[in-house]
Amino acid sequence: MGCQMLWLWLLLALTIMATTSIVQGCDPGDLKGLASFRGGIHMDTSGRLVKWAGRSCCRWQGVACNNRTGRVTEVHLPGFIATTDFVFQSQMEGWLSPSITLLASLEVLDLGGLVGLSGRIPTSIGRLKNLKRLYLYGNKLRGPVPDSIGKLLKLEELHLHENRLSGYLPTSIGCLKNLNALLLHSNRFTGSIPGSFSKLTNLMHLDLHSNSLIGNIPEDIGELSVLEEFDLSENFLTGKIPVSVNNLTSISVMYLDSNHLEGEIPFPSNYGQMPMLGFLRLQNNQLRGKIPPNFVYLVSLQRVSLENNKLEGAIPSSLGNLQALTELYLGGNKLSGVIPKSIGQLSRLILLSISRNSIQGPLPYEMSALQNLQTLDLSFNSLNLSSIPRWVAELPSLSRILLAGCGIEGRIPDSLRSTPSPIQELDLSANYLTGGIPAWIGGLNQLYSLNLSRNHLSSSIPASVSDLEVLGVFDLHSNNLTGSLEHVFNIGTSFPGGSLTYIDLSYNSFTSGVEQIGAGTLERLEYLNLSHNLQEGQLPTSVAKLKALKCLDLSHNKLGFGLVGDLANLSHLETLKLQRNRFTGKIPVEFLNLKNLKDLDLSDNLLVGEIPAGKPLSDFPQSCFTGNRGLCGKPLSPCKS
Ligand SMILES: *[C@@H]1O[C@H](CO)[C@@H](O)[C@H](O)[C@H]1NC(C)=O
Ligand SMILES: *[C@@H]1O[C@H](CO)[C@@H](O)[C@H](O)[C@H]1NC(C)=O
Ligand SMILES: *[C@@H]1O[C@H](CO)[C@@H](O)[C@H](O)[C@H]1NC(C)=O
Ligand SMILES: *[C@@H]1O[C@H](CO)[C@@H](O)[C@H](O)[C@H]1NC(C)=O
Ligand SMILES: *[C@@H]1O[C@H](CO)[C@@H](O)[C@H](O)[C@H]1NC(C)=O
Ligand SMILES: *[C@@H]1O[C@H](CO)[C@@H](O)[C@H](O)[C@H]1NC(C)=O
Ligand SMILES: *[C@@H]1O[C@H](CO)[C@@H](O)[C@H](O)[C@H]1NC(C)=O
Repeated sequence: MGCQMLWLWLLLALTIMATTSIVQGCDPGDLKGLASFRGGIHMDTSGRLVKWAGRSCCRWQGVACNNRTGRVTEVHLPGFIATTDFVFQSQMEGWLSPSITLLASLEVLDLGGLVGLSGRIPTSIGRLKNLKRLYLYGNKLRGPVPDSIGKLLKLEELHLHENRLSGYLPTSIGCLKNLNALLLHSNRFTGSIPGSFSKLTNLMHLDLHSNSLIGNIPEDIGELSVLEEFDLSENFLTGKIPVSVNNLTSISVMYLDSNHLEGEIPFPSNYGQMPMLGFLRLQNNQLRGKIPPNFVYLVSLQRVSLENNKLEGAIPSSLGNLQALTELYLGGNKLSGVIPKSIGQLSRLILLSISRNSIQGPLPYEMSALQNLQTLDLSFNSLNLSSIPRWVAELPSLSRILLAGCGIEGRIPDSLRSTPSPIQELDLSANYLTGGIPAWIGGLNQLYSLNLSRNHLSSSIPASVSDLEVLGVFDLHSNNLTGSLEHVFNIGTSFPGGSLTYIDLSYNSFTSGVEQIGAGTLERLEYLNLSHNLQEGQLPTSVAKLKALKCLDLSHNKLGFGLVGDLANLSHLETLKLQRNRFTGKIPVEFLNLKNLKDLDLSDNLLVGEIPAGKPLSDFPQSCFTGNRGLCGKPLSPCKS
């Protein structure tokens, strides 16, 4: 009898197992949701969606189901695919179907970094009551973040950052320095942050950076008591930082930078608030008032940037107690007073930047205790140092010394010749330096950026500069330097292709050297400015060897002879300034190949003949060609035949 029962039970169990494997198909709602989603996508470089066939959606790539209910719990299709064997940035193009919200049991929706996904966040998103993680960053989604998102009470991570036109902004914008105002608003999330956000009390990560959000940060944001990482940077948010942020007791990362926030910094109001805050960025806003002395309560603070605000008053002496601090950016404010002695206690400090404020001297000797300091930027204050304090050159870790506009007089100090850490960056621009450029400069074998512009230096450039193997930026403009530039064109030639990207020697008295352009291998050079010098002779065809050049300014010299057509081999050239020289002959017809040219000036030379007809030359205003002996044709008046 007992045996029979066992058999029956076994039979029953087998039947159930069989039925479950048949019903392995999908919940009809889930299937419809997934099919509509797939239907909206017309391109998928990962090849994941083409394999979505049949009804067993739980077996589809990127889909996971609850093994008890059979309902879809995860749609996991990130653009960046990393396995143990390979990494791959895939792309999907198409619309995000609102039917995705039919997947009522969804806990994870990861469509992050697919680059080409467009459309909006469906207002029906609030139906996904079980959602814990929502990743829609790095796409082309736009429109408002719907209020219904406040219904996702289980949400732990919300990443909606970087929805912009096409992935990322180009890193190099050539010499069009003003172009950094270029913003690609239209393909980002817009509107304000819904007030309903404060109901998401399980939220740990909230990332909305690089969108076009406007309005205020919700007043009761402090309700998000388990929030750890909070990034609203690079939006157009206005108003004050809500006082309630004091209640974000779990916060460790807070980035509110690059918005239009105003008012005072309202935190921390008491000891023990935000005890885990390690990374704080408030730069590029319009914050006013003082740096709160209460910052001393933020005991975990490691990296903080308050740059480019309107903060005033003295640097609070209490900052010296922030023992975890490694990077402190205070530049571009209205801070005054002296640097407090207590700064010398920040034994872990790696970077200190207080540039562009109204800090007065003298520098406290206590700073000589900053054993780990690598970067010191005190440029453009009211320091009036007269000379670089000896202990600066003796700081054991210092490799980036930025003391522009500090009232430094006399010769470039020999103490910089052999510092404990090799100098990588030296900016002593806009001071009152006199004398020559010392030959020992060539021995700074780690130097990648040298800025001695706007001084009264008056030697020739020593031959030793050509030993600067890793030099990338060389700015000596507005001095009284003389002689030949030839050594400059040999800098870093032992490095394949050369390392220099930027040379500015404008406003000096160099008489020769231009004929050596391209003698070395400056294949990475993007910016060359020799304007306002005394260069004579001819521009050699070897200029075409500077393949990466985007910006060439040789204006206000005494260069002559014909313009070489080889200049047009510089296919990246965006700016070409040759005005106020003595160039003769015709404009080479090859100039029509300069397709990227955005800025041209050939005025006040001795050019003749017809301007080659066509773009880009015809697009420039007349003023780019005037003051020549006999130019004609578009955009000037027609040639008389
Ligand atoms: C079912 O899922 C749970 C959690 O998702 C897991 O721990 C369990 O091992 C799964 N069971 C089976 C039989 O796969
Ligand atoms: C912070 O939280 C406390 C209690 O949870 C509450 O009384 C207070 O009003 C909150 N402060 C702010 C500024 O929201
Ligand atoms: C800078 O200091 C010198 C003396 O070291 C003084 O003569 C000069 O007036 C000061 N300049 C300013 C702007 O404070
Ligand atoms: C060099 O310093 C000057 C004056 O401080 C500044 O205007 C210029 O931008 C600097 N050059 C580079 C390449 O940063
Ligand atoms: C530049 O140097 C020349 C002599 O080498 C001198 O006559 C001239 O005054 C100097 N100009 C400046 C601005 O220092
Ligand atoms: C070259 O330098 C001069 C003087 O410093 C400056 O006026 C000019 O704008 C620079 N040219 C370019 C193209 O940046
Ligand atoms: C510039 O390009 C032309 C045509 O491709 C070529 O004949 C010439 O040698 C190039 N000039 C230089 C200096 O590379």
